[in-house]
Order: sequence, then C-alpha cells, then structure tokens
Amino acid sequence: MRNQLLKFLVSLTIIIQNCLGIVLPQTLRRELKWGQVNILHTTDMHGWLAGHAHDKRYSSDLGEFVSFINHMKQLAEEKDVDLLVVDTGDLHDGTGLSDLTNPPGSWTNDLLKNVPYDVLVAGNHELYLPIVMNDTYHNFIPSWNGRYLASNVDMYDEKTDTYTPFGEKYAIFDTPHNVRILSLGFVGSFSGGCNEARVLPMEITLQHSWWNEIRELEDIDLILIAGHIPVHDSSELDQLLLKLRKEFPDTIIQVLGGHSHIRDYAVYDEKAAGLQSGRYCETVGWASIQGLPSFTSSKARSNSFYPVFPFFSPLIDYSKKVLETTLYFTNPSVFSRSYIDWNRKGFIYHSNVHDFNFDTIEGSKLSHQIANARKRLNLLDPLGCSPIDYGFSEVPRNASNSIYHLFETEIFPKTIINKSRKHLPHYIIINTGGIRGGLQQGSFGLDELFQVSPFKGNIFYVLKDVPWFIVKNLPYWLEHSGYLSIYDEPSTFLDTPNTFEKDLVYTKSKPKSEQVSYGYQTHDDMGDDGDDTIHLPIPHYDSGNYLCSKVNVDLDLDRHPRQVDLVTTEFVIPRLNYILNKLVGKSLFTKEDWNLYFWRKDGRHSMTDLLALYAEKYWDKECLYST
Ligand SMILES: *[C@@H]1O[C@H](CO)[C@@H](O)[C@H](O)[C@H]1NC(C)=O
Ligand SMILES: *[C@@H]1O[C@H](CO)[C@@H](O)[C@H](O)[C@H]1NC(C)=O
Ligand SMILES: *[C@@H]1O[C@H](CO)[C@@H](O)[C@H](O)[C@H]1NC(C)=O
Repeated sequence: MRNQLLKFLVSLTIIIQNCLGIVLPQTLRRELKWGQVNILHTTDMHGWLAGHAHDKRYSSDLGEFVSFINHMKQLAEEKDVDLLVVDTGDLHDGTGLSDLTNPPGSWTNDLLKNVPYDVLVAGNHELYLPIVMNDTYHNFIPSWNGRYLASNVDMYDEKTDTYTPFGEKYAIFDTPHNVRILSLGFVGSFSGGCNEARVLPMEITLQHSWWNEIRELEDIDLILIAGHIPVHDSSELDQLLLKLRKEFPDTIIQVLGGHSHIRDYAVYDEKAAGLQSGRYCETVGWASIQGLPSFTSSKARSNSFYPVFPFFSPLIDYSKKVLETTLYFTNPSVFSRSYIDWNRKGFIYHSNVHDFNFDTIEGSKLSHQIANARKRLNLLDPLGCSPIDYGFSEVPRNASNSIYHLFETEIFPKTIINKSRKHLPHYIIINTGGIRGGLQQGSFGLDELFQVSPFKGNIFYVLKDVPWFIVKNLPYWLEHSGYLSIYDEPSTFLDTPNTFEKDLVYTKSKPKSEQVSYGYQTHDDMGDDGDDTIHLPIPHYDSGNYLCSKVNVDLDLDRHPRQVDLVTTEFVIPRLNYILNKLVGKSLFTKEDWNLYFWRKDGRHSMTDLLALYAEKYWDKECLYST
C-alpha cells in the first residue's frame, strides 16, 4: 500500500516536472561586456567538477569549462584584449569525486591543474585537515608557478618547528597588453582550521614586512585581490581596501571574492569593485575592466575601439566606511560583470562557436578523465532511490520535502542509535551547515551522498544526563548565541528574502516573458542585469543554525525529563560546550566529558553515512520507474 502510494506520488511528480519542462521556454541570454582586462572567475567549487547531472542549468563538467576558456582566449585575442582566469578557493568537500579519495581533494586537484588559472587562492576548506593542507602544499601549489596566493596563511613545519608561507604573499605580473598587476590572496580569518594552519587576521597581516615591499611599488596598473571572503560586509576586506587606497589612491582595484556561496557584486568606489561568483560550479563569474592607462593594443590598433576613460573623479574620503561609497560611483564604464550559468549552451553562446566546434582537445580530454575518475570511485553505483525531491534552501526548513526536515525527523532518530541508551530521552543536535545540498528524486549514489553531507570525518558523541534546567534553554541559545554559525558557512546563501512566495517555482501559469526559466536572479550594487541568463527567482529560506531531533522527550512542561542525553558531532562539541558553559555560568563541560555514541564495525558511522544507512532500510534500492 505504502509502496503504491509512493509510486503514485512519484509518477505525479514526474508529470508535474514534465509539464514544467513544457511550460519553461527557451533561455534568454545577455551578452558579456568586454573590457581591456577580462576575468573568468570560479569560486567554492566544492568538488562539482563533473557538473550537475540532474540540473540542466549547471550541467557542464570542468572539461567543457576548459573548452569555454580556450574559445574565450581566442576571442580575447581577436578583440586584442587580456583574459585572466582566477579561482578563489574551497576546491573540495562537497562531492564523492572530491572527497572519496585519500587525501580528499587529491584527484580533483589533479584535474583542476588542467584549467589555465592565472591566480588562485586557498579557501578555508583547504585548511581543515592536516593531510589536505599538506597535499595541497606539496602536490598542488607548486604547479602554479608562484600564482597560488595565500597572503595571510602559513603552514607549520614540524621538521623546522617554524611556520612557512602556504603560498605566495603576493604576485606581480604583466599581461600581454602591458598591464602590470599586483595580486594579493586572502582567506577570511576563521578558527577551526587544523593546528598546522595559521591564518592571520587582516590587521596583523598588514603589519608584515612584505606589506612594506608592496607599498613601495610604483608602476602598478591594476590591483587584483583574490579573496576567499565575501565581497560585501567583510570588515577584513574593508580594512584591506582602506589601506590599499592610502598607498594607491588612484589605482584600479578588482576584488574576486567567495565563501558565502552567493552571486554578488560590490562597488567600493569609482575604481574599486568586487565580484563573487556563487558556488558548486553553478556560476562562472565575468569581470571586465576598462580605463587602464597603461593598456596597449598589441596590434598597435587605435584605442578608440576600446576607449580609455580619463578620470576627473575627486578622490574619495576614505575616512568614511568603504562600503558607503557606492553612492560615489559615477562611471560604470570602468567595470562590468556577469554571472554565467555553468552550462554548455551558455558557454557556446558566449564563445560564439558552433556546438560541433565547441569541445577542444584539452577540454574533451579532461571530460574523459573526470568520467574515468567517477567510474573508478564507483560513483555510478546506485545506493538507493529517493522517493521525492528533498529541497535545500528553496523550501522552508520545516516543509515535508525539505532535506533538513528529512534529517531532523527521520534520519537522525532512526540511524544514530546506541543500544544501551536509545530508550533514554536525548537530543540529537547538528549544525545546519553539516548539510550542504538537497537530494533529487530518483536513483542516487556516493556522489549525491557527499553532495548532501560531505563531512565523512564527523562522528557522533554523547554528553550523558544533562540536567533539564540547562537543556530547556538550549534550543534558544543554539539559535541566538551566534556561535554555531561563525565557524561555519553563513546560513543565508542568497540575498533574496525568506518570504518569497513559495509557489513561484511550481506555478504553471506562464511567466511574464515568454523566455524565462527558473534560477538565480541577482540584485547587486550594479543593478539587476548581472545574470547572463534571465531567470525567475527561486525562493530562498533561511535554514537557521542547527537541527535538533528530540527523541523520547515529552515536551509537555509538566512531564519534562529530569535529564537528557545530548548527542552531536565532533565538529559541534566545542561550540556546544561553549554554550552549555555559558548557560551554567562556569566552565563545567569539556571535551573529555563526551563519549563515543555511534560506532559501527563496518566504519559507516559518520555524518556522510547516515543517508545511505537510512535509504538501505527505508527506501527501495533501485528505482522502479524510469526518470
Ligand atoms: C606531506 O606530503 C608529502 C608529499 O606528498 C609527503 O612526503 C609527506 O609524508 C607528507 N607529510 C605528512 C606529515 O603527511
Ligand atoms: C514552519 O515554520 C513556520 C515558521 O516558524 C511556521 O509558520 C509554519 O507553520 C511551519 N510549517 C509547518 C508545515 O510546520
Ligand atoms: C554506546 O554508548 C556508550 C556510551 O558512550 C559507548 O561506550 C558505546 O561504545 C556506544 N556503543 C556503540 C555501538 O557505539
């Protein structure tokens, strides 16, 4: 009976999806604006190099991206301008392809070496595990010939008992068109990195001796800041910009940011702007820059085709907060930006070639390598069949089709079980950042497992018998102490309001324009025309800071338990201790008070394993219908 109902629901979903497919018309695209220096930007790829198999909007793999770069380089040559390619960190933690290898990210790093990046910077995910950091240091960074930047990151070296620079502090290079670039690379400072990682806050970084070296530089035409840091509301970035403006009052500054997984563009002043290019290989960012006086056409062609704009702008009063200077922005011809959807059709559109000419030798080779790697990691083997789509930020957290709701109400209580304590009242508490994506209806395998939750090192511990007077206030403080979120990714990823009409995505009424599909609709400092593909917005709901499954707990206040077991992951323990100690007003709880709670002989007891364990028991292994 249950199965039949499921099948009915499933086929209904398929029908609805098919209808959507018919209703959704062809895409409408905006042209890119080319400048003198142009940049293709990736960030927060988190291992999605094989593309999004279930989502046509982001379906290209890294090989197709490389073909795209090849064609864009060709175009740049024809237009007689410069094209750079930049990445701003967090290369892995997010798919089976990146995280099933040992060390995690080692295969994807090898694949990424085929992308002709001009500048790269580390992200926080390069710095969580000593083996990842070491592998990146020895086997990835040397491939970039001094263009892997880590201005504020050092790595502890056991042999010499000292810290060595993780990447270059800065790089200076000339483009083919005579633009001298000073490039810096920062990771927004965070705690929670491994002991080997030292990430200096901006204040301290700017006091280092190498900063004095760059202050002396006189012939810099463009400052390129590659930052694993959001382009808006980052006090560290503000500090850096203020400081740079003091030394380089008139130099154009282009920031490329990341970390918070959104599309965004910030205008700091007439000659400084920042681009942030989303997440998970959904977005290729495009930044173009005009008005570089040193730019020389290599064919000695007149500059009139790409005019150089003179600047009469008064210098900005930098005692004011940098971010307030948006108002001063008067000359939009200096910068332009686009957010390119990561798919073949879009790549072809912008690179102006025919489909059959699109794949380059380098690109096809890389696509093959990715496909082989996926096979070798058994990513194609089915683990289970998801009965419906479980949404991520696009559905309310408490909706029955929310991935968070699935974990909170089903997966945690039904998989994280300790025989000796399962009958006792307990809370299973996980930070929402532990869940990274939704699950599509249909067959899924190891890749999807990691896409939902990549934290395979995260195992579960218990703090036994915590008195009720502490526990009762815990949910409030988990949400409001701010502590669960600060070491984590921000929980608001898109800047659309939470209150978006949720039926927008599923509506069958015709969109206003005949040619609009659902996807990103970005509002940034430059306006609403940044997305290369015109979309209707997908709603976004705040996920909050944590999930809590309350097991065997009667919430009737008169019948509350006297004490409650708290179960959580290694990652959350220090944060939970902090909050608990705040609640009792002294340092009562330490790491040593937590005991192992969930351990399996087969080793499948981490956050990543839960979905598979659950699917094995409660879902069909193979999908009985075709999608
Ligand atoms: C770091 O990586 C290098 C090169 O892969 C390896 O030889 C060395 O043993 C690693 N060190 C640690 C501490 O893992
Ligand atoms: C979900 O949460 C919101 C806000 O707390 C609430 O208004 C709504 O009724 C809840 N919906 C469900 C299905 O529980
Ligand atoms: C159950 O919890 C107890 C207490 O923490 C622990 O000693 C034991 O190893 C756990 N059992 C399993 C199978 O994880």
